Amino acid sequence: MTDRRTVFPEGFLWGAATAAYQIEGAADEDGRTPSIWDVYSRTPGKVLDGDTGDVATDHYHRWPEDLRSMADLGLGAYRFSISWPRVLPEGGPGLNGKGVDFYSRLVDGLLDRGIAPVATLYHWDLPQGLEEAGGWPARDTALRFADYAERIGAVLGDRVHTWTTLNEPWCTAFLGYASGVHAPGRTDPAASLAAAHHLNLAHGLATRALRSVVSPTAQHSITLNLHHVRGEPEAARKIDAVANRIFLGPLLDGCYPADLLADTAGLTDWSFVRDGDEAAIAATPDAPLDVLGVNYYSPTLVRMWNGDGDGSRAAADGHRQGAASPWPGADDVEFVRQPGPYTEMGWSIDATGMEELLLRLHRDHPGLPLMITENGAAFDDRVAPDGHVHDDRRIAYLRDHLAAVARAIAAGVDVRGYFAWSLLDNFEWSYGYSKRFGIIHVDYATQRRTWKDSALWYRDVISANAIVS
Ligand code: NOJ
Repeated sequence: MTDRRTVFPEGFLWGAATAAYQIEGAADEDGRTPSIWDVYSRTPGKVLDGDTGDVATDHYHRWPEDLRSMADLGLGAYRFSISWPRVLPEGGPGLNGKGVDFYSRLVDGLLDRGIAPVATLYHWDLPQGLEEAGGWPARDTALRFADYAERIGAVLGDRVHTWTTLNEPWCTAFLGYASGVHAPGRTDPAASLAAAHHLNLAHGLATRALRSVVSPTAQHSITLNLHHVRGEPEAARKIDAVANRIFLGPLLDGCYPADLLADTAGLTDWSFVRDGDEAAIAATPDAPLDVLGVNYYSPTLVRMWNGDGDGSRAAADGHRQGAASPWPGADDVEFVRQPGPYTEMGWSIDATGMEELLLRLHRDHPGLPLMITENGAAFDDRVAPDGHVHDDRRIAYLRDHLAAVARAIAAGVDVRGYFAWSLLDNFEWSYGYSKRFGIIHVDYATQRRTWKDSALWYRDVISANAIVS
């Protein structure tokens, strides 16, 4: 018999990921003040079934149990996010001791179990007061973010293994300020481009601020939801510009791509980019991007709009029918439905997209270490009469995507680790609790956690450091 094990490099980091607003609950406890997601989700009609993150998976109270699960899974790392309005109510200036203590205890608990803490500073929960002062389209928000980074870095910086400034700034800028299907729900394309720039600036300023206060051995990163775009070259170029190179350009090449500026010239003159901003954003030898976080779920297929396709014209990209476009400067691009199978989100399952994306990043940015900071799938999971959750399709999804990562590594791509999204079922933004991404099932009526078959499978992968097919 042939050995069908796919072995990962020694030291490969195996993890699982979550985000504060999606799991913590305790929305009004211990001094936390509302974020834009509290306000948005409490606004009728914004989130499916009126769900909010008020209770979520109650992780704020149940974290010791969740920590035990992480240890039992054998995780080498846990990626979580820090709620800005929990540690700096109203966005600051006063640090909230109780909020900080929560993360401090979590970090200590992780370290006690040999699990590396990977902390994200911004996973979409902007303090509401800062939105009222202008939100991400306002430059001051970037400065406030750098201040927040420095304050929290000063208290947790001796213990956090990897700092990630932002999670998926594309979603913040374009779902939050262009299509409006995410908080704060604004639909202003020009403002969304300013938001993208101020998110980039926030990353640059925060990374430098963090470096001045945290352990010199800490790793610094940002997580992007890079789109693997296939289809007609001109359509693919346009989406690549406003989905990927709008972030990769200033970060890794030191400037915004000329074609993006041309595509969006009818919307803005980009005068919000001030002298010195691109230098403040760019990774440099003294402030390198130690690792780029990549979130991947599904590829994107596009063509130029010809008026009679069955796709959606630069529309909600599967996020919500009838919503405004999250693609400024690319209104003439059509998103084509791809062949199945699909996850419960309606996203096509295609692991080759992940492999191609990793190869492209390696080609365009040789030597840049990468980490898969999210990958996973939502399915309609149920606890079976035998008490188990038989999520074979999630196992297949994870196995195929891990095999794609292994092929990329074999081809020379420097992938340092992989984080399953998600540790637990949780609040899936505008879809509320209707979509289950966890490898651990949560019964929201009782908060009972049940390991799905995929969790048991993942535990075996981790302990073997290999996919054992
Ligand atoms: C990306 C986001 O970072 C996460 O919050 C979300 O739940 C997953 N994708 C699934 O949509």
